[in-house]
Amino acid sequence: MSRTVAEENAAFSYLEFGAIDPVAGSKTVWDFRTGETAYDWFMLARYANDLAAYQRLCSHLSDSDLDTLISEYDSMIHHPDDFSVNLGKLLALGIAGAGQPRPCFFEIGQTLFGCVDGMEFCKALLERLDISFPKIDLHQVQWTGLDISPLFNQLAPLLHPGHTITTFDDPGKLASRYDVFFAKGVTLLYAVRSVAALFDLLGRCQLSLFDYSLSLEEEQHVVIGTGKPVVYLALAPFLAACRASGKSLYLKRGNSRLDRTTGRVWLDAVYGAPELCRQFVEHDQRVRSAMRIGLLDLPGERLLDTVGNRNSGWMTVEMFLSEQGVKTP
Ligand SMILES: C[S@@+](CC[C@H](N)C(=O)[O-])C[C@H]1O[C@@H](n2cnc3c(N)ncnc32)[C@H](O)[C@@H]1O
Repeated sequence: MSRTVAEENAAFSYLEFGAIDPVAGSKTVWDFRTGETAYDWFMLARYANDLAAYQRLCSHLSDSDLDTLISEYDSMIHHPDDFSVNLGKLLALGIAGAGQPRPCFFEIGQTLFGCVDGMEFCKALLERLDISFPKIDLHQVQWTGLDISPLFNQLAPLLHPGHTITTFDDPGKLASRYDVFFAKGVTLLYAVRSVAALFDLLGRCQLSLFDYSLSLEEEQHVVIGTGKPVVYLALAPFLAACRASGKSLYLKRGNSRLDRTTGRVWLDAVYGAPELCRQFVEHDQRVRSAMRIGLLDLPGERLLDTVGNRNSGWMTVEMFLSEQGVKTP
């Protein structure tokens, strides 16, 4: 099939590997990849590096001082907020998976499922700091991932031989119930095209942690920097569906924001039955303040993700929007 002019001129990702000889003033390109291959190869290296780093951090945990562990985390883990995000997933699994012999965790865009290793480190650090949290045996969790990358889907179970990992690429294969749902970054924007599809997904999950952008007015159809089309759904029908579900939606106050220039609101959210959300917010705040005390005088800003007050607490979506001056129906 021939490509349209718009398709031919669309932005695309690339990955280049080569060598620069500063003496000869030359550059040699040994390999150059574009599109999904470029994306997969780069992300594979990046996420595999995180995964190996978490395994090393776990193995050093009992015989390293906290200062050394923090500086290893800071230098090795790609996303500064990774620990903080994994802490949320760990607490969510302990709460929503309580009493389940095999709690189910479902992620859209799981990549290599490095969160398993990240959560093992998180758990071990909390234990070392003697901080109580809802107990969860990560080896009993059924990890399920929906990703468009055949490479990531194949590698995620291979990289976690002691865990039960199932991956797939067909959204039609969603199960009717998961204990915890997670999605980060633009993944949910890529995967979801309507309010109904979003709430069908969230309705299958007991407790959901995700970040997401919505348009303050009409739906926005945009091709983002990666060259992929996304839909920013409209806030009003999103809120209406949320209310109709009878569930709660809390936002991380310091990491949710309104952007009047783009006409969008960015939500860092937890969604689920009111009692589960209440427990999650309570444990999240308690464990984070216990960690702040446990790491007092140590450079734990990245680990705790306290930069910019991002983890200053939670509020309902209604309170957040009213604080931002957004009128809701
Ligand atoms: C930014 S990463 C996701 C976040 C990452 N797992 C983390 O915890 O940091 C994006 C992932 O989403 C996947 N992806 C992109 N579009 C998707 C779609 N429509 N459905 C499912 N997965 C998608 C990519 O292959 C990649 O693994």
